Amino acid sequence: MRRTLVVGNWKMHGSFADNADLLAAISSQATRFPEVESAVCAPFPYLAQVRELLAGTPVKWGAQNSSEHVAGAYTGEVSPAMLREFGCHYVIVGHSERRTLHHETDALVGAKAVAVLSNGMTPIVCVGETLDEREAGHTAQVVTRQLDAIIAALGADALARVVIAYEPIWAIGTGRSASPEQAQAVHALIRQRLAGVDAGLADDIRILYGGSLKPGNAGALFAQPDIDGGLVGGASLVAADFVAIIMAGQSAQSA
Ligand code: PGA
Repeated sequence: MRRTLVVGNWKMHGSFADNADLLAAISSQATRFPEVESAVCAPFPYLAQVRELLAGTPVKWGAQNSSEHVAGAYTGEVSPAMLREFGCHYVIVGHSERRTLHHETDALVGAKAVAVLSNGMTPIVCVGETLDEREAGHTAQVVTRQLDAIIAALGADALARVVIAYEPIWAIGTGRSASPEQAQAVHALIRQRLAGVDAGLADDIRILYGGSLKPGNAGALFAQPDIDGGLVGGASLVAADFVAIIMAGQSAQSA
């Protein structure tokens, strides 16, 4: 049985004061939902604060990006070895905002996933199509291409240690989430592709849904057989909403 995972992606939001309130509320509530694994991915400057406030709680933490290099002349970059020193458990890799705004290619996303894994952390690798691609009937083709790049970069053994996040770009920050059926169809496709590499691996790997996840839609999405939790943007900045999504994860896990 795959353990439900709910991860907050704060994006470029936060302040010392806001983070302290948010983390206190989340970590005190998370103990009520022991069957769900939860984590927050904070901006780099707040990782020390997040580590201090979450150490000893059930909530894990991570980063939203990493360099594919471990050290060197890469001004402005942050290395996976540094993220490891801050106790990061997860690193989001290939978020659509990185792919679109920072021109990250499938190959670069693969290299980042390798770097994160080889530094002892778990990459959460994002895939997903644009609205144009969906309307043109290209969703399967786009998601398969993105996934195949990860499979090629990692190989079967390393692949067993990643989390995949399906985030349709048209659903991110728009208030328009994929329907449970739409999301399930793509999650099933992803799992089927992974089964082509290794059937056991496909059974075990967690595939998260992301894109306008809210307390009101999380239950129906998490009830789908191939949806193993969520990557939550906007709602992860509101403690009550994030906790309600974790609670939906617990209900799905026990159902
Ligand atoms: P959203 O963002 O929940 O605000 O749509 C999700 C994400 O980008 O990870």
